[in-house]
Amino acid sequence: MADGSGGDMLSWDESLFRDERVFEVDYLPEAFRHRDTQMESLKYALKPAVRGSRPLNVMAQGPPGTGKTTAVHILFDELRAQTDVRAVRVNCQVNATRYAVFSRLFQGVFDYEPPASGISFKKLFSQVTDRLVEDDEVLVVALDDVNYLFYESAASETLYSLLRAHEEQGGARIGVIVISSDLELNIIEELDGRVQSVFRPEDVYFPKYDEPEIADILGERVDRGFHDGVVDTQVLDRVAALTADQGGDLRIGIDLLRRSGLNAERRASDTVDPEDVEAAFETSRYIHLSRRLGGLSDSERALLEVVARHEGEQAGAIYEVFHDQTGLGYTRYAEIINKLDQLGILNAQYADVEGRGRSRELSLEYDTEAVLERL
Ligand SMILES: Nc1ncnc2c1ncn2[C@@H]1O[C@H](COP(=O)(O)OP(=O)(O)OP(=O)(O)O)[C@@H](O)[C@H]1O
Ligand SMILES: [Mg+2]
Repeated sequence: MADGSGGDMLSWDESLFRDERVFEVDYLPEAFRHRDTQMESLKYALKPAVRGSRPLNVMAQGPPGTGKTTAVHILFDELRAQTDVRAVRVNCQVNATRYAVFSRLFQGVFDYEPPASGISFKKLFSQVTDRLVEDDEVLVVALDDVNYLFYESAASETLYSLLRAHEEQGGARIGVIVISSDLELNIIEELDGRVQSVFRPEDVYFPKYDEPEIADILGERVDRGFHDGVVDTQVLDRVAALTADQGGDLRIGIDLLRRSGLNAERRASDTVDPEDVEAAFETSRYIHLSRRLGGLSDSERALLEVVARHEGEQAGAIYEVFHDQTGLGYTRYAEIINKLDQLGILNAQYADVEGRGRSRELSLEYDTEAVLERL
């Protein structure tokens, strides 16, 4: 491919990629292998909705990049195409309050956004539930990345409103799928008692893919995404090994394939070689970090930057700098520290400091330079 015209440069219309879109984050895979059990369990729980009754609630958990969101996308597409069930997925990383969640549901039920002028929650809630009853529709809600609702202390009230909707509005039938990748978060335990008593979900677990499974799934992407012969088995196995090594998040493998391909193109090579993979890995390994930082608010980013620039200093000194910069007080500071800790971006541990009693010691979970670069 690199031979022919202009020396050792690929010409504009030459590419190693057959279809580069298959490596994009929002690409929905045509084949969804190694998830049959999970898909069966989800279908079982949703079956009643198809018959017009309230579905079973589900709690889907598993580490990052194990296909939870993809499973819901595939099922919801099927439901929309084949049944009268309303299915709405809410990204709780972006919609982290009860009001925001119901705004999304409003949009899902009415197909347009709620009035921008703002209406009370009560009004929003009753418009959604009234509509469901009027149209005699069952609503299935997926609260994706529900852990963010917990970080913002919004989980209990949101679930309460969803699960007890039928008491407020007779005839409203809503089922909830909560999805979490925070395995340290005990969802049931963290909910208020009044929610616990009505939330008895089916458990669906998405385990990490093992290395052969990763190679199998990525192999499928390679076939669709690259021209024949561009990525050989040795390179694919290396990508799978690195992905498994980093905790098994398929996003890393997919990103690695794409970046490796771009590296090879830059070298005007017609194959992806191990050196392309190693070079790409320096970026791809930080994909979690980038994703997590992308979801932070301005004050959260500000605090993280202060921690990064003052690593190793006393928590008290870090608070002072943060306070000077943002004007925010200690309560907000402590809340943000907790959230960043729960997100796995930093580690906040209580440590005994000589002469000062117990103080929090803050350290980054990632390489400082990598964090600062991405902020
Ligand atoms: N079995 C599979 N076959 C093909 N592609 C898959 C499979 N499982 C996951 N993927 C791909 O891996 C990527 C991550 O999957 P997904 O977003 O569904 O993970 P997740 O479990 O929701 O992760 P997180 O908890 O971080 O949100 C997506 O690009 C998805 O297309
Ligand atoms: Mg997801």
